[in-house]
Amino acid sequence: MDIRFEKREHLKEKPDQKNLGFGKYMTDYMFVMDWDREKEWHDARIVPHEPMLLDPACVALHYAQETFEGMKAYRTKEGKIQLFRPEMNAKRMIKSNERLCMPPVPVDMFVEAVEELVKVEKDWVPSEPETSLYIRPFMFATESSLGVHMASAYKFVVICTPVGAYYAEGVNPVRILVEDELVRAVKGGTGFTKCGGNYAASILGQVKAEKQGCTQVLWLDGVERKYVEEVGTMNIMFKIAGEIYTAPIEGTVLPGVTRDSIIHILKDWGYKVNETRLSVDDLMKAGHDGTLEEAFGTGTAAVISPVGEFVYKDDKVTVNDFKTGELTQKLYDYLTGIQWGSVEDKYHWTVEVC
Ligand code: COI
Repeated sequence: MDIRFEKREHLKEKPDQKNLGFGKYMTDYMFVMDWDREKEWHDARIVPHEPMLLDPACVALHYAQETFEGMKAYRTKEGKIQLFRPEMNAKRMIKSNERLCMPPVPVDMFVEAVEELVKVEKDWVPSEPETSLYIRPFMFATESSLGVHMASAYKFVVICTPVGAYYAEGVNPVRILVEDELVRAVKGGTGFTKCGGNYAASILGQVKAEKQGCTQVLWLDGVERKYVEEVGTMNIMFKIAGEIYTAPIEGTVLPGVTRDSIIHILKDWGYKVNETRLSVDDLMKAGHDGTLEEAFGTGTAAVISPVGEFVYKDDKVTVNDFKTGELTQKLYDYLTGIQWGSVEDKYHWTVEVC
């Protein structure tokens, strides 16, 4: 790809790596390219990260034709910078785009855009423990038109932000509200895609959860409100009587890159992983009878996030005395060890950028 570079006059001051939070500071540059029917993808460029000019009638602002991805660049002890399974993000975005009638960004173009931007922004990849450069590729319809139809013009953009832990709790257990009224996804809908609309519809649940002292929502299936599916910003796994349970990828749950990696690792470690529907009643029962040994979320932003308590209607169960479980910690250490380069990457998941 031919990528034009536009230098900015002044580089921004870098934030304190010990207080990054999540997604608060944007780096100096962004990658942008445009699509229209005639030229398809064109004018690839790395330009200063600045506000963009959009027509108020642009389709994405009205009908949410928008998809995105989340990935990270990690700095190893030796100072190298690496990505984690970037092709999986590229392929997932193609699937999201198919569902939202948006043009695909070919895998090699997607990965090149991310790699080239990370090379330019290498000084922004933090080195403090638990920190990384979060990368947000996204695409949206730019055509200005108020008719509901497949737009004829799009922008693919990649922005970056240095981050610490996603949750204020850090890597400590979180309390989760099981949402029994609102739904996130039904088969045939967009639940398996990473599109802004899914997250917009989840915010009311998030507000309810926060009012009840919970960090996130556990969504149930949209038809019977009976089976556990995923948490607001991550997939979820349960260790019950020694076996692992997680919702299957059948159209309503996001096919997480971290989810897939953890399933691989768990199977390699000899665990039985059941990608099957688990009812919330069985989950609560396991919590009460002591067979629910651990629960944790998996996601790029959240990494591996232990769950300390589930609140469901008038009931609640505490998991592992609200402490991070042994397996959860082991998975966190192993996965992040691969990502930060301190554990041998026997799966060849990491990709060195510079
Ligand atoms: C991610 O884990 O990368 C996500 O996109 C979740 C989120 C912060 C919405």
